[in-house]
Amino acid sequence: YGTQTVNEKGHLTIGGVDTVDLAHIYGTPLLVYDIALFKERAAAFQETFKKAGIQAQVAYASKAFSSIAIYEVAAQLGLSLDVVSGGELHTAVAANFPREKIHFHGNNKSYTELQYAFDEKIGCIVLDNFHEIEMIKEISEARKEKMNVLLRVTPGVHASTHDYITTGQEDSKFGFDLKNGQTDDAFLKLHNHPYIQLLGMHCHIGSQIFETEAFRLAAEALMTKMVEWRQKFKFTCSVLNLGGGFGIRYTAEDEPLHPSKYVEEMESTVLSMARTYNYPLPEIWIEPGRSLVGDAGTTIYTIGSTKEVPNIRTYVSVDGGMSDNIRPALYGAKYSAASANRMLDPHSDKVTIAGKCCESGDKLIEEAFIAQPVEGDLLAIFCTGAYTYSMASNYNRLPKPAIVFCEDGQHQLVVRRETYEDIIRLDIPLQKIGREQS
Ligand code: LLP
Repeated sequence: YGTQTVNEKGHLTIGGVDTVDLAHIYGTPLLVYDIALFKERAAAFQETFKKAGIQAQVAYASKAFSSIAIYEVAAQLGLSLDVVSGGELHTAVAANFPREKIHFHGNNKSYTELQYAFDEKIGCIVLDNFHEIEMIKEISEARKEKMNVLLRVTPGVHASTHDYITTGQEDSKFGFDLKNGQTDDAFLKLHNHPYIQLLGMHCHIGSQIFETEAFRLAAEALMTKMVEWRQKFKFTCSVLNLGGGFGIRYTAEDEPLHPSKYVEEMESTVLSMARTYNYPLPEIWIEPGRSLVGDAGTTIYTIGSTKEVPNIRTYVSVDGGMSDNIRPALYGAKYSAASANRMLDPHSDKVTIAGKCCESGDKLIEEAFIAQPVEGDLLAIFCTGAYTYSMASNYNRLPKPAIVFCEDGQHQLVVRRETYEDIIRLDIPLQKIGREQS
């Protein structure tokens, strides 16, 4: 992937940096990002819109990986930012991300979170439900402050992906139902409001999607509603946000499309419907997360114990696991691996890569082909840049890994490794409850 190569020592390098050196400097598990690849992925989306001359915003869906440093890179690239919580917003504020390019998502934003969004004068709030509409009206009226909003709708499109990450179908906790009048009711509650400016509509149909058809159907469904509103209420949407969800290659079995393919499908659908209904061309916004950071990230682990279960399998255990990457345990997600310090050695028989958490299900890869494993070897698991660190836990009180960015032969620590002190930093020893009386 990207700038990964193998050097003369047979070591994996990322961004021109030897991963064996990185492991020595920063320890393992270590999440290494190839920043050139992140930039290349972002440009692929941005350029496709530019080529077609379509006004667009490419927002980084930062739930995939949120940190101050990645927000700083995103800002430099001219990306917008999708945040889904006060915590992500706070990280964006700490990175001094341009507020007008921040979009706030989520199906249960709190009053405090909405106020934070007003305090920071962010670019837009994506309204998800009637409760939020009431809250945002109250806040904007009390403050006499404007806020841009989009309405999130569920278009009733089923994209073929894992059930846990499909979101466009009717039975979803997200958004207003497009088909049963909910979306119109929401519109009418906002229409002509003195402070709330409705920019348009949003949908997100799922994640790790490999087809363009679902995006076409979603764009058609939303544009149809937009056309209806124009006829019925003389209201024109200026923004159509089609979400993220573009698939990437985790293993050789995955066949992702180039980012331009998804964008072109959206462009042609929107252009042709705008033409047919004489609708002013809206801006198209998208929100890629995984497809910007997924394959830019690689986790380097150290191999410890190995156990052979005769006639069944060999377990090779590493110094991390479901605490730093829960995706295999949660979704049955597949990854591929290699021995970072012995890339040129012949492969062993099939092995299972296990984590160190106290759960049998803590297997990172069921079937991996790596160099004959020796304790102390470094194991690289590829494509771990999305939804790993951001979903990490301290299960078994394992400290979270460190994160390094690499580019052009340079490296920089961007998230330090948790220490044991960090692990207990929120703990408060007994003061009265349960304490033995002396
Ligand atoms: N926009 C919205 C409103 C979303 O809910 C999401 C992802 C995205 C954009 C970005 O989707 P992406 O481009 O990254 O596919 N934890 C799961 C993925 C959950 C996705 C949640 N929403 C996983 O590890 O596969």
